[in-house]
This record gives sequence, C-alpha cells and structure tokens, in this order.
Amino acid sequence: MPQFDETDLTEAVVQSFDETPDPRMKLLMRELVRSLHDYVRRTGLTFEEWQRAIDFLTRTGQKCTPSRQEFILLSDVLGVSMLVDAVNHRDRAGATQTTVLGPFYVGEHRPMPHGADISEGVEGERMYVQGRVTDLDGAPLADVAVDVWHADDDGFYDSQKPAYAQDGPSLRARFVTDADGRFAFRTILPCSYPIPIDGPVGELILAARRHPMRPAHVHFLVSAPGYEPLVTHVFVEGDKYLDTDVVFGVKDELISSVELRNDPVMPDGREAPGPWHLMTYEFRLKPGQGAAPKPMLATAAE
Ligand code: BEZ
Ligand code: FE
Repeated sequence: MPQFDETDLTEAVVQSFDETPDPRMKLLMRELVRSLHDYVRRTGLTFEEWQRAIDFLTRTGQKCTPSRQEFILLSDVLGVSMLVDAVNHRDRAGATQTTVLGPFYVGEHRPMPHGADISEGVEGERMYVQGRVTDLDGAPLADVAVDVWHADDDGFYDSQKPAYAQDGPSLRARFVTDADGRFAFRTILPCSYPIPIDGPVGELILAARRHPMRPAHVHFLVSAPGYEPLVTHVFVEGDKYLDTDVVFGVKDELISSVELRNDPVMPDGREAPGPWHLMTYEFRLKPGQGAAPKPMLATAAE
C-alpha cells in the first residue's frame, strides 16, 4: 500500500494523469496539480483556510445566473484574464492592443446604420464616436463587423438590469465598416463604474481594501475574416481610475483624448444637440485566424 510524504504525493497525483489521451489536457492537469500542491506547501494552508476557500468558490458558482458571471469577475480581479490575454498576444507588432472582454458581452449585436444613436432614451453627455479599421499597413478594411458596448451614466450595463429581457439592448450595437474602413455612432460619454460588489468577488475586493472601480471606457470587438479578432476598449483620457483599474485592463495606447466640442454640427453633418464629446480611434488588425469570443451570458431578444 503506497504511503506518500508531501513531495511523493505531488508526483503520484501528477502521474495519475499519465494515460490522459489528450496531450494538452494532460499537460494542463499535471501543471495545475504541481502549482496547487506547491501553493499548499508554501503557505502551510490550514484546514480552516481550505474550507473557507471551498466555501468562497461554492458561493462564486451559486452567484452565477444566465445574466451574471461571477467566475469571469474573479478571473478579472485576480489578473488572470489579463495574463491569459498577455500570453496569447505576445507579439502585437503594430496591431492594436487587446484587453479583457469582461462579463457584459452578450454576443453578436444588432446591426445599426452609421451615425445611429445607441443611447436612445438614456441620460448623459452626448458623444460622437468615429473609428476606422485597417490592416497593419494602414490599408482600410471594409465590411468588418464592429461590436460596441458600454455602461450608462450610472455605471450599469443594460444586461445588469431586470428589464433587459423585455427591453432588449441599449448602449450596444454592431456597425459594419464602409469601403474606407470607417464607422461612426452617437452615444453618451461613459463614466467610471464599480464592478458588481454584491457577491463573493466584492467581499474579496473590500476585504483587501481595494476599490472596485473601472475607468470610463467603450468596449470594441472587431472581427474580420483572415484577421485575429480584436477584443479591446478605448479609455477616456483623464479618468482618475486609469492607474488603478480593478481588473488591470488599461494600456497606454488604448487611452483616447476625448475632446469636448461646441461645433453646431457633428462630423456626419447632422445638427449637434449642444456641447458634445468626440472620440476618435483607429483599430489595426493583425492577420491570423480565430473565432470571436463566445459570450458567457444569455442574450436578450433583439
Ligand atoms: C467591463 O469592462 O465590462 C468589465 C470587465 C471586467 C470586470 C467587470 C466589468
Ligand atoms: Fe466595461
């Protein structure tokens, strides 16, 4: 009958995966066991701490619903989402930087015409967003799908609201680039907002005396055949949380100087309702393959 000491035990568990037919799964499980066992040894984890950890993970799962993904949030605040992003995008070589998808992507959005207002009925300072999608040489990419989404002036995404299933999407849409790679839409200026803190991840953040804020941003998912899907944000310059984003998602290149304008017309020639903000960004795609990420949440009827 085998009897293991602290180190033999790790090797025995690692070897228990030797017959795993899928080589990638075999590698991932063996390395996971090594890292977990190492953590237990290095910290001298107590029974009480292990039970607390299991209770925490249990409650994290229980907090998940068709419209709430507490595990993505946990991955985000532990920096795992950004680390997975980093190791998968080591060589950007001129391509736009990537960042977290976040838990509020609900899947392919309703297509809207250029210049459309995605913020109908939503309070806030008006903003015009104009973007262009190019390849690494700056050549325009036409017919490219650009999904956009962002929070409202109170810091909530449509999918966080009880009325989402009936009301459908707000502050999110799909635009398709024109022959010059351009797209444009009207919306409101996003503000910084807290990630949801009414669950176990919130408990963790507050216990660690961390703040729960994300700096103001608009999400973009740009997908074109023959190019790597681009998951990114454009952040609003000057936001006070840019240096301390709770999910570590900010990159300098993604910060845009959103300008306050008083011109009576917006760039598409239509009348401005008063002062407005202008966000301009160029997205450079890297050649490659890969499917756009799948949402983890239910999509409202569109
Ligand atoms: C977001 O930007 O939507 C987001 C990202 C990570 C965690 C929570 C929210
Ligand atoms: Fe966001």
